[in-house]
Amino acid sequence: MELTPDQVAQYDEQGYLVFPDLFSSEEVDVLRSEVDRISKVNSPMVVREGKDSAVKIMFRLHEPDGDTSSPAFAAACRTSRVLRLAQQCLHDDEIYIHHCKVNMKAAIEGSAWPWHQDFHSWHLDGITKPNMTTMTVMLTEASEFNGCMYVLPSSHKVGRTDPRWDDSTAYKLWAARPHDMKRFMGHFPKPVAIAGGPGTAAIFHCNLLHASGHNLSPEDRWQVFFSFNQCKNRPTEVENPRPDYVRSLNWSPLEIQGEDGILTTI
Ligand code: SIN
Ligand code: MN
Repeated sequence: MELTPDQVAQYDEQGYLVFPDLFSSEEVDVLRSEVDRISKVNSPMVVREGKDSAVKIMFRLHEPDGDTSSPAFAAACRTSRVLRLAQQCLHDDEIYIHHCKVNMKAAIEGSAWPWHQDFHSWHLDGITKPNMTTMTVMLTEASEFNGCMYVLPSSHKVGRTDPRWDDSTAYKLWAARPHDMKRFMGHFPKPVAIAGGPGTAAIFHCNLLHASGHNLSPEDRWQVFFSFNQCKNRPTEVENPRPDYVRSLNWSPLEIQGEDGILTTI
């Protein structure tokens, strides 16, 4: 799969693109059964929240080794539907995955993600340039009711803003300051809900402001995120680096493999 020049121009301008039904229901079923399997693993790569210890995030499903390794997710991120699109958005064929995660926003309890730019954390990981992008694929329906993502179109153009540390949820992160968000919302087009059925995907720039709400529905919201960096933009050394499941040290360029990779893992 290839993006048209118009789609690449739209990504450059708005900071994101949406692809309805990029993955088939058969492929999504395989990925979902992997999420079920890995959610039972006890590992620092599986982050839990709430009284029931519901899984909030699982990391590093794309590598061939480790507690959370999954051949189906490894295949998914190497399809042209993910990897070629990321290469085109980054204007570079030599890219690798800085991290991969599945967010399992549990029914009723799954918490919000405050407005933020991903590049805050990645810059602190030692990455110099905001030449990074994330492809997310919905593994369940994502709706406004169950806490789908929102993006603020074209907000990647503001560059990196001054963040605040947000520790209000089980996964603490650098988030945008409320007064900045109020200002940006008066300036950029209205936030867009990235909603759709299972298999729908979206790719977004690492400085695009995005957020999502609490899951108020009786169903979990599951979504995978593959975050790509240019090999030449790999992190410099930092003091106290984060573990390699969030700050990958595998900087080898990824190669595109077959489109049927997910289904051949069963
Ligand atoms: C993220 O921004 O990393 C996650 C957002 C979400 O899962 O809704
Ligand atoms: Mn994010």
